[in-house]
Amino acid sequence: MLGSPALLSVDDCKLIELPVIRNPQGNLTFIEAEEHVPFPIARVYYLYDVPEGAVRGGHAHRALEQLIVPIAGSFDVVVDDGSERRRIVLDQPRVGLYMPQMIWRELENFSAGSFCVVLASTHYDEADYYRDYDEFRTAAVG
Ligand code: TYD
Repeated sequence: MLGSPALLSVDDCKLIELPVIRNPQGNLTFIEAEEHVPFPIARVYYLYDVPEGAVRGGHAHRALEQLIVPIAGSFDVVVDDGSERRRIVLDQPRVGLYMPQMIWRELENFSAGSFCVVLASTHYDEADYYRDYDEFRTAAVG
């Protein structure tokens, strides 16, 4: 029923525990498409050098699904389905946040030196974005 945007809610934003291979020389975590993320990975991008106090995001996506992974440091993801809003703290590199389509998000409270990797289900397409909250909310909940 993923084709029906109104059915998606903040409950569909899931924390995903990723595998860790522990070793005295350091830990290793890996992510396999359609195994640890429920979609084929089409794109990877990352956020770094984020200044203190920055707020990123401020949009939702019509079709895009993502896994957001805090590789270093921590930040908050505020997720919003048009009727409910929830704050999720990401602070472990072995726990990513799965974001389905049609969820408004804001990323904030970045710690110094934080580094965020995002695995995305589609290539970049500005037409996939809702950048206006009211337009998103109308599409999501009417
Ligand atoms: P945006 O998705 O708004 O970033 P964030 O949610 O982290 O604040 O993208 C910021 C800018 O970067 C915007 O002009 C689009 C561009 N961009 C690309 O060209 N390719 C990409 O893969 C991404 C994610 C963004």
